[in-house]
Amino acid sequence: MSLLIRGGEIVTPDARYKAEIYVEDQTVARIGTDLSVPPGTEIIDATGKWIFPGFIDPHVHIYLPFMATFAKDTHETASVAALIGGTTTFIEMCCPSRTEDTLAGYNLWKEKAQGRSACDYAFHMTVSRFDQNTEAQLREIVRDGTTSFKIFLSYKNFFGVDDGEMYQTLTLAKELGVIVAAHCENAELVGRLQQALLAEGKTGPEWHEPSRPESVEAEGTARFATFLENTGAVGYVVHLSCVPALKAAVDAKGRGVRLSVESVLPHLLLDKTSAERAGLEGMQYVMSPPLRDKRNQPALWSALASRLIDTVATDHCPFDNEQKLLGRDAFTQIPNGIPGIEERVSLIYTYGVNRGRMDIHRFVDALSTRPAKLFGLFPRKGTIAVGSDADLVIFDPTYRGVISARTQHINNDYSGFEGFAVEGRPAVVTVRGKIQVRDGNFVGERGRGQLLRREPIINWRSN
Ligand code: URP
Ligand code: ZN
Ligand code: ZN
Repeated sequence: MSLLIRGGEIVTPDARYKAEIYVEDQTVARIGTDLSVPPGTEIIDATGKWIFPGFIDPHVHIYLPFMATFAKDTHETASVAALIGGTTTFIEMCCPSRTEDTLAGYNLWKEKAQGRSACDYAFHMTVSRFDQNTEAQLREIVRDGTTSFKIFLSYKNFFGVDDGEMYQTLTLAKELGVIVAAHCENAELVGRLQQALLAEGKTGPEWHEPSRPESVEAEGTARFATFLENTGAVGYVVHLSCVPALKAAVDAKGRGVRLSVESVLPHLLLDKTSAERAGLEGMQYVMSPPLRDKRNQPALWSALASRLIDTVATDHCPFDNEQKLLGRDAFTQIPNGIPGIEERVSLIYTYGVNRGRMDIHRFVDALSTRPAKLFGLFPRKGTIAVGSDADLVIFDPTYRGVISARTQHINNDYSGFEGFAVEGRPAVVTVRGKIQVRDGNFVGERGRGQLLRREPIINWRSN
């Protein structure tokens, strides 16, 4: 399988240039001009298009038992949708609950994905309790190439860990050179505020945000940073949503805490007024941390542009309308999550790059290169260079479209981004040299995706 892509403009975090790319045996073999190629090579004309490294979504949920139900996607549906949107690798949260065995959970998630994903994938291993077996099991999981952990400071009694367990997880992570991602909200306060609101008869989705206010997220972020500071571990705050939490993260970075920050599509583009809509419409927009007051968004975008926020993920987590209605009598029962795996690249290109909120290099960095570097995938992924995997997105900036549930490929009956205009989309997407998408259609091989085994982090910020 060989490919020659010519006429396009390659973009990486630090360069932008016109060149041809020759792909052979799954990797980029040559980059140059007037390349001679063997007979039988497929030629792709990329004139007028950007060529980006395949995008990496570092935070998705696909198989997820959560809140008395299961997230809707399968690895088939999510990976096809991801590819159509330009994401060639995702990192899924492997999330056994507190009552399940860590290693059994890891094996179950691997089994769910095995042979079913059309794009490449990896896992963050959730540590939802730390008992006498956990340490040995986590060591085994890291030896298997899953070199990032996840902890939840919220979702008490389900995924959530207490401070002692956080300390144990971070201490082991430091020893193993493993990065720890954290959902940062104060579980005790969330529980108390939820009960107080329900007791006052405040049951609708509009009360979800007041039950998890910005200060509760800021406290979780600051506490996680303090634990990183005192264990020497490397951390990553997922789905940071608001200015007070950003301030806590930036303060920690400023004093040398080894911390990176993720923002997600819903917090950048949606706000709490969506969840304040009556009934089901509001329930569709319930996620945690919640959609916030719009005044937070300029600060998130500017932190993203200046790299105080490192990455943009989706936190893709689809529940359909019927599932959302589980919370019709109490907002605390609404399955938390908003889908987005398919739309991230085009939406951030449109509302980030085209609106002047970030330049095209930072865009590639935040959505591809930086996740690759943070999570041990670089330079195999996250760049266009000789020897790297030929995961390429040939992006047509002249495409115009509108997002709609009617045309999406995920397994859900609504889109959180219904009606959003997009300016640009992937025209061709390759995974290790094989064309998987053409003009918005999946044309490739289901099950082609590989589990990416990763090495522990060696040098913090050497990248
Ligand atoms: O509401 C959300 N974010 N659902 C998915 C689980 C999580 O907290 O990431
Ligand atoms: Zn979370
Ligand atoms: Zn999540």
